[in-house]
Amino acid sequence: DECELDILIDMMEMDVALNHNLFGQWTRAAFHDAGTFNQITNEGGANGCLMNFPPMRLEPENNFLNAPLNHLEAIKNNWHSHPDTCIDVSSADMLQFAMFFVVVRQSNLIEPLNLGTPNVIAKRNLLKTGFAWGRPDECDTMWVDNLPGFHPSNDGNIAGPTGRCAAAGGEIKTKMMDRNGFTAEEATVLIGAHTIGLVRNTFGTGSFAGPWVTDGADNATPDGPVFNNKYHDFLINTIVANDASQFAAASPGIVPFTMQFPDWFRDVPNDLDHLDTDIALAFPSENLGMHPDFSVHSAAFAGSNAFFLSKFMAAMDKMGKLGVSVALQPASTPCSCSSRRRLQDRNDFGKSFISLNDALVLARDLGNATSWALMQNLDTQQGRIEEIQKLTTPERVIDPPQDTGLFVVTIPQYLARSRYLGCRDSTLCTDSHQVSVSKIEKDRTPFHGIRMRHRLTYANGDLDDLLACPSPFASSCPTLGPAFSVDLSSATAAHTLNPAVRGLGVVDNVTGATPLKTGSY
Ligand code: HEM
Repeated sequence: DECELDILIDMMEMDVALNHNLFGQWTRAAFHDAGTFNQITNEGGANGCLMNFPPMRLEPENNFLNAPLNHLEAIKNNWHSHPDTCIDVSSADMLQFAMFFVVVRQSNLIEPLNLGTPNVIAKRNLLKTGFAWGRPDECDTMWVDNLPGFHPSNDGNIAGPTGRCAAAGGEIKTKMMDRNGFTAEEATVLIGAHTIGLVRNTFGTGSFAGPWVTDGADNATPDGPVFNNKYHDFLINTIVANDASQFAAASPGIVPFTMQFPDWFRDVPNDLDHLDTDIALAFPSENLGMHPDFSVHSAAFAGSNAFFLSKFMAAMDKMGKLGVSVALQPASTPCSCSSRRRLQDRNDFGKSFISLNDALVLARDLGNATSWALMQNLDTQQGRIEEIQKLTTPERVIDPPQDTGLFVVTIPQYLARSRYLGCRDSTLCTDSHQVSVSKIEKDRTPFHGIRMRHRLTYANGDLDDLLACPSPFASSCPTLGPAFSVDLSSATAAHTLNPAVRGLGVVDNVTGATPLKTGSY
């Protein structure tokens, strides 16, 4: 009920007041849960899978979300066990509410939500009445394939019908429009969430980290980043205004960016970062067959913050219900939970709805959540290194090799892992790797069906080079070879690839005397 929500709001307030990075991170997490929805197959959606199913966090798309998810989990547990509550909300609800909390708190006049000002009272009321609860938690499998990436393949030019902007726009169209079911306007406004937060880790935590706009930095105000239309304003009134001619030129550059990488741009003096998918929203479509014109919507949002916020709220509401088939309910009012009547006596503003003792317990758990996340990040990193090493080290030698078939195999998961380990330049990490495999068995390896015998071998280096690669752009980064071939042995029925595992690998082609298996699995 609404009184219980006051407790939750206080707990979140306590956390974000100390950790401004959570504003961006919780918002990203909410999208990464809901954006798994595919309307064609009716899979994924706002189902809490990102919080409840640990392997989801190992997917490269969800990199670096451990800390904010652990914080949310600690808050959820403390809220549930609080003596004055008797709720049991889902992780799916927690994730979407966290984003709603962020957008309400950080838009318009920003004040800590434990003040008693009219603005804060209005915001608390909106938080208590404007959100519908009841999403079930469910997680059958991983659907990160439906989340947009920022480096779809392209011809390397920024402009042009097969250039970077067209491809990036195509990615938004395929994932956010065709699969998630958003309109062009809704996709454009939702990506406007990049108005807060940072490209925090993707290109390294050091000098390459930066917000999209200065107002969006964690400490842009004493109370955190500003959630407004500055992102679209920057696209239209800084990038396009200064840059239309360079963009279309044969050797384009995009002012104000001083550094350009294969799939993102950096404004060094101001420490701002933009992905290709952001720039795709700034300019008219270079290829209407690939994506519609997002720039008309960007221009409209750049023109009015009120218009941007109202469209964002509506699109966020739709996002939070993707894949949810049950009816959702607002919190009941008046307060109905009989076990927490004590609240009635101390609900004057300026005082917290949680006691000092509750706050101390929560602080302890949030501290643990951070340390736990750091450990998990290290674990994830170590796990990936071990996984790669396992995949590239002979398991056992099967003697004698029997198969003569030649497989050409592409393994997107593996490529993603390579990217994680340092090779983020798509030209270094595309295609596949040279490998020999002696035997296929069902369900035995992370390849779900292919058991390796020999090391993966790269054209100009090996795994150690890849692991040692100091930065994605270093010249010592190994160039990966073209498609790899796989020798098979034991041509028996046991070669069936596991059909339950979707999207983890693709058998592109089979050549040779005895083709055993082709198609996708
Ligand atoms: C084309 C679609 C999108 C792409 C390719 C994309 C990609 C990214 C990437 C690469 C990062 C940096 C992560 C890091 O380095 O830590 C990021 C951050 C972020 N994304 Fe997106 N994103 C997209 C759409 C969205 C949408 C629809 C939302 C929300 C509704 C969103 C919210 C955020 C936020 C708030 C951050 C900052 C996180 C932080 O401060 O740690 N993104 N996104």
